[in-house]
Amino acid sequence: MSLRYLTAGETHGPQLTAIIEGLPSNLKIDFEALNFQLLRRQKGYGRGRRMQIEKDTATIAGGVRHGYTTGAPVALIVENNDWKHWQNIMNIEPIEGSDEEKRRVHRPRPGHADLNGGLKYNLKDLRNVLERSSARETAIRVACGAMARQLLEHFGIKIAGHVIRIGEIEAPPHNLSLDELREVTEQSSVRVVDAETEKKMEAYIDQIKQDGDSIGGIVECIVEGVPVGLGSHVQYDRKLDGRIAQAVMSINAFKGVEIGIGFEAGTIPGSKVHDEILYSEERGYYRATNRLGGFEGGMTNGMPLVVRGVMKPIPTLYKPLQSVDIDTKEAFTAQVERSDACAVPAASVVLESVVAWEVAKAFLEKFGGDSIEEIERNVKSYQEQLENY
Ligand SMILES: Cc1cc2nc3c(=O)[nH]c(=O)nc-3n(C[C@H](O)[C@H](O)[C@H](O)COP(=O)(O)O)c2cc1C
Repeated sequence: MSLRYLTAGETHGPQLTAIIEGLPSNLKIDFEALNFQLLRRQKGYGRGRRMQIEKDTATIAGGVRHGYTTGAPVALIVENNDWKHWQNIMNIEPIEGSDEEKRRVHRPRPGHADLNGGLKYNLKDLRNVLERSSARETAIRVACGAMARQLLEHFGIKIAGHVIRIGEIEAPPHNLSLDELREVTEQSSVRVVDAETEKKMEAYIDQIKQDGDSIGGIVECIVEGVPVGLGSHVQYDRKLDGRIAQAVMSINAFKGVEIGIGFEAGTIPGSKVHDEILYSEERGYYRATNRLGGFEGGMTNGMPLVVRGVMKPIPTLYKPLQSVDIDTKEAFTAQVERSDACAVPAASVVLESVVAWEVAKAFLEKFGGDSIEEIERNVKSYQEQLENY
């Protein structure tokens, strides 16, 4: 059975829920590490009040016993700490009251799912769309990704992520190791590698906020320790770079994805794009460079995976854009409740999480077994095959 998950729940509902199917038994679960990932998603300069209310934690409600997975589906829950204020508005039973009291939404926000979802599902209260399309759902995806990371880490595969651009401000290149990158960016309010860029980005976000606007950016994720041969060249839907691209594009507000040098590959000659193959007793086959970001032919090549995604500016603006009321068909300028000006640092954590998931899924396809011990045997046998090749 391949690894999969589904999520349910609304942004202001009682909880977000996920069921993960396909994790092997006997994986030791680090509960602190799980909640650490949720905390990371909530941090970041430029975020609004909800992040202070939230303080997300995940509860495991199935599939783990005495600290280890049992092989049964894992049920994850992230509660909404602000539920008491939303019980009526989000009640599953019919409630009495005016549109105002029900917080009915009839003014679709540009850049959101509101209008398309209302038309498609024939919903006259656009709250039924926005509640589910909200990026709050990424909290439970980060929780699923945290479980995937624990599986990967058991096999020596590590992930880091960082912000490389917010609007006009670009982070300089760095030569930090993956562990250093993790450490340094964890201390940064905007998840960048150096303090000067951090200051510039903070000031830039302040300015954007003052202007009633919002800003997007570019985030990067690196995965180290990935064995050669995850994914496959033989079928379109088994190409792991393609599957990662889909996962990245599924993150709210992501509008593009790059692997390795990405779009730059279309601007320079082949001799400056492809990575030459080398061999040494110690490392086996490896590449002289890693411009292709760890992928050739839809398969991992043993080099670190490098995945970048671009996030558009948050669509809810304090300086409102024009839209049309679905009741009156009249134009109005969208009024704003409350929103972040920039969620790029948080998006970097979501990127890491979805990439972790796809790599874990491909890892289990290659080495799949019902228990950790069985997978360990499969990994060992493959390593022997590689050594004797
Ligand atoms: C971590 C994160 C936080 C977000 N926060 C907000 C927000 O506070 N306000 C908002 O309007 N959009 C926010 N978004 C973006 C919207 O969820 C997204 O643009 C919207 O659902 C429409 O989807 P699309 O942009 O993928 O088409 C956020 C996205 C992410 C990844």
